Amino acid sequence: MPADSPGLPEVEELQVSEAQIAVHWKEESFYYPPPSFIGQANASDPAIRDRFTEDKFPQCFKEYADLLTWDEYWHTTLDTSNPPFWRWFVGGRLNASFNCVDRHLRTRPNQAALVWVPELEDEETVVITYRELYRRVNETAAMLRDFCGLKTGDRVTLHMPMVPELPIVMLACARLGVIHSQVFAGFSGAACGGRISDSQSRVLITMDGYYRSGTLLDHKEKADEAVERALAEGQVVDKVVVYRRHPGEYASKTPMVEGRDFFADEVMADHRGKLVDPVSLPAEAPLFIMYSSGTTGRPKGCQHSIGGYLAYVTGTSKYYQDIHPEDTYWCAADIGWITGHSYIVYGPLSLGTTSVMFEGVPTYPDPGRPWRIAERLGVNIFHTAPTTIRMLRKVGPTEPKKYDYHFKHMTTVGEPIEPDVWRWYYEVVGKGEAVIVDTWWQTENGGFLCSTLPGLDGMKPGSAGPGVLGIYPVIYDENGEEVSQGSGRAGNICIRNPWPGIFQTIWGDPDRFVQTYYEKYNKDPKSTDWRDWPYFANDGATQSADGYFRILGRVDDVINVAGHRLGTKELESASVLVEEVAEAAAVPVIDELRGRAVEMYISVKPGADSSDVEEKVAKAIETEIGKVARPKNVWIVPDMPKTRSGKIMRRVIAGISNYTDVGDITTLANPEVVEEIRAHVHSVKEARGEVPKALTEKEAEEIRAFGQAE
Ligand code: PRX
Repeated sequence: MPADSPGLPEVEELQVSEAQIAVHWKEESFYYPPPSFIGQANASDPAIRDRFTEDKFPQCFKEYADLLTWDEYWHTTLDTSNPPFWRWFVGGRLNASFNCVDRHLRTRPNQAALVWVPELEDEETVVITYRELYRRVNETAAMLRDFCGLKTGDRVTLHMPMVPELPIVMLACARLGVIHSQVFAGFSGAACGGRISDSQSRVLITMDGYYRSGTLLDHKEKADEAVERALAEGQVVDKVVVYRRHPGEYASKTPMVEGRDFFADEVMADHRGKLVDPVSLPAEAPLFIMYSSGTTGRPKGCQHSIGGYLAYVTGTSKYYQDIHPEDTYWCAADIGWITGHSYIVYGPLSLGTTSVMFEGVPTYPDPGRPWRIAERLGVNIFHTAPTTIRMLRKVGPTEPKKYDYHFKHMTTVGEPIEPDVWRWYYEVVGKGEAVIVDTWWQTENGGFLCSTLPGLDGMKPGSAGPGVLGIYPVIYDENGEEVSQGSGRAGNICIRNPWPGIFQTIWGDPDRFVQTYYEKYNKDPKSTDWRDWPYFANDGATQSADGYFRILGRVDDVINVAGHRLGTKELESASVLVEEVAEAAAVPVIDELRGRAVEMYISVKPGADSSDVEEKVAKAIETEIGKVARPKNVWIVPDMPKTRSGKIMRRVIAGISNYTDVGDITTLANPEVVEEIRAHVHSVKEARGEVPKALTEKEAEEIRAFGQAE
């Protein structure tokens, strides 16, 4: 916010409240990795840290690059001539598909690369060895090239659920240098269509259906909506390739469109046994685009490179996930998110391990399911998000005890984890035998930014830990002053240096890339010294005296629902598509299971019939974004609380939704409306039994600070 804006007092207020946060925090005690883990860890010698100190930057990342097989070795580690468009491993050439598949054929052709567990428990688990993966990736690459007409540099949109064909198609794209853009299957057809047009894809790869909680969902209907939306935005899709969940049967009610839609199993018949040479590509060529939410309504296509990204996820998978080829590693994220790209597909397969994929809902048919999978497959590394841990604890607090599995290592990612939830994860899920890493990072980052080294560092519940190898984080206040370690104050966490996994740009919008991530703390726009270009992560954090970072959450207009990033502007733009809606504002509510949930506040146009607006708004959000974004409540209000300059005061309505202090309302243009809204919202919540528990000090501060980034 500019210093001369009418909202200045709010910034001061924010700083005061930030300063108060940590005062109320109790420091948690440390837990230490068990000797059995340390004995086998990839990083067990503290000297590893000396290899990544700042004086060794950027050459330290040679160690990660050397985990890959290069067709041509690179000559320049980091080119900073056009900041902040960093170029890593310049001069190098490689292929990501070769690195994740072909190079393991000599050493472990018959080892399982992917183990796919369908949701229905009586359906067979599918094991795909590296040899079989090689065959299928080649055949699929032939199909993409010869049938779809895709070539190096083209973009293709995937809207695939958690089936083995998803990583196979990704690796087939990577083989050709075709840039894949996988959209989370839970997102709507409209959301997929917007991403198709933004990335200018003319081919969509999708599936007819998939299982969620025992039901075979119709997914193909979303493809029709997606193609229609893309066309409305000017992008023609000429081929839709539809995988079938049960080959030979069609799970969707929507007809196949003649000449546009093709069943993958039928088309693939023409490509059996074909081999496609991996295309040797420059290290800085793009590997994929992954869309993510931000402050404006339009999702950002984060573009990731081949060389830098693959080196970074391989290195962090080795040292932070502690992956050895002989491990059985299960990351229970969805490949539709960055976690799945980096830590189900690219990192683990590059290291030649066995990566488990699960199709469905972890609590289906009962909360023992994940532990049965772990027991049956011998999973020894487990990776999930706090929202899943909270859910499993709620519905099956003692389930893990019933199963004979043993994890050496567990990960949490995606949201801050409450120390209490962390302890259940450690003691009950991990049976006190497993080390935990709390990994903080983002879609934009490619791989982990803060975490403990699992064999070397103590674990502190609720804290991610220090910067990972080669990452030098810092906390700045609003004025760019460093917030010192142990000061008890919060601020904006930034990374002082570039790293190989950082995204290259926002697809088609380099100005937004610079503005969102670098402008705020850039010291000199003309400088080609990386030290002048700290990366602004848009997260608040504190750093304790021991150097560990504790992440507080987003400082921009993003609500983190069950680990999914939802932009308030996206939710609001979807809501105003409803004809009767005049204005819409999205706020977070603290939710016991999902971390945060969304509530919408809506004012209707004068004279409009508001009787079914609540359902229409919820539906509009589902249609535009997806079911994941469905608001917990939609409140129709007579007027939004506004400043005299007409700005909606989200902090006030967020305070009402969360039963916490609404702050000073004397500067509002319409203070009288606050009481009216509160009375309505609270009476409905009370009638529905939705009154939240008293917020913790940290949660209350977050709600008070909400909406002040504008
Ligand atoms: O607010 C942080 C939170 O999730 C955001 C990134 O979301 P996304 O791009 O979807 O990537 C999620 C998986 C990498 C961050 O800005 N976040 C992520 N990991 C953590 C976290 N918050 C606290 N602790 C974490 N470990």
